[in-house]
Amino acid sequence: NNSLLQDTFGRKHDYLRISITEHCNLRCTYCMPEDGISLTPKSHLMTADEIVSIAQTFVNLGVTKIRLTGGEPLVRKDARDVILRLGKLGVNLSITTNGILVSNFIETFKEAGIKTVNISIDSLVKDKFNQITRREYFDIVQKNIDLLLREKFNVKLNVVLIKSFNDNEILDFIAVTKSKNVQVRFIEFMPFSGNQWDKSKLVSYAEILETIQSKYTISEIERLQDSPNDTAKNFKINSHLGSFAIISSVTNPFCSTCNRIRLTADGKLKNCLFSNSETSLLEVLRAGESIIPLIEQNLLSKKAVRAGMDDDLKFQNPELFSQNRSMIAIGG
Ligand code: GTP
Ligand code: 5AD
Ligand code: SF4
Repeated sequence: NNSLLQDTFGRKHDYLRISITEHCNLRCTYCMPEDGISLTPKSHLMTADEIVSIAQTFVNLGVTKIRLTGGEPLVRKDARDVILRLGKLGVNLSITTNGILVSNFIETFKEAGIKTVNISIDSLVKDKFNQITRREYFDIVQKNIDLLLREKFNVKLNVVLIKSFNDNEILDFIAVTKSKNVQVRFIEFMPFSGNQWDKSKLVSYAEILETIQSKYTISEIERLQDSPNDTAKNFKINSHLGSFAIISSVTNPFCSTCNRIRLTADGKLKNCLFSNSETSLLEVLRAGESIIPLIEQNLLSKKAVRAGMDDDLKFQNPELFSQNRSMIAIGG
């Protein structure tokens, strides 16, 4: 029954993002507070059976795309099992990962039918990458990106831009698309609890394009067709093998075509990345009752734009965004 996944604005939610763990093997500054977050006790986290059961319910209701996130999804001990079982649901399954553990999962991805892997990589300079991630995995991630390309996966590189930190690398990332068949996605830095967001750190859609236009002429930059419900505006440098895109959640939100609903590792539904009115599915599931009325209820409360923070003043108000979770516990 498709209409159950519709909200009051007529948006159909057929894309489920599941965070399968709150743990991560990196400590990215823009994603989590310096001292970490308080982790949910294990008994309150979804087991593999519970993830599959909830996912199956969503698929029955009309979900056609599932993305696994975290934390870092591949650090979950039974990640392989979870991926393989979700692969059997007949949806478009994909994953967003930091890439560190990818080499252990190539066969699992293939077996589960995963075709596209989104990798977070915010700098091409080793020292900077290590500085932002507070760990030392630069070479491994680079190697694993090449491995995925050799194994014929579609690879998207997620680059969160931070003013005066990595915005001087925009053209270097574009240069990567010259010979590598990757899609580089420049992402506007978004405010979440504990991530030291400040408007002055934002690199906007307009600024990103301006930088690219300083090197390439308008006729060299091709605007590609976006797929429906895409988070990104897609482009390509004519002569390059790969492409690039911009995700502008701050200066130009794409909420009117939002088809996403999120499930956190502790089994709570979030109808928007920025919403902190969550609906817990776990107790009801564990009591053996139907979670469908909860899903319907949650979606009916979805706001038109960014959980009601439609104007800049609300969206950029620390008192409001710090009430939300840290990104590490949402999954992006
Ligand atoms: P594709 O399915 O490949 O298009 O990926 P995606 O863009 O849906 O997901 P990914 O996990 O790669 O996220 C890329 C960036 O988009 C991250 O910064 C996410 O936080 C952001 N993002 C993903 N979904 C949403 C959304 O619904 N709203 C907003 N505002 N940002 C989103
Ligand atoms: N703003 C924008 N994107 C973010 N991500 C994590 N934190 C932020 C933020 N504050 C991105 C990561 C990852 C994706 C799931 O979300 O880079 O690729
Ligand atoms: Fe959807 Fe919320 Fe993202 Fe807008 S901000 S696209 S409503 S998840």
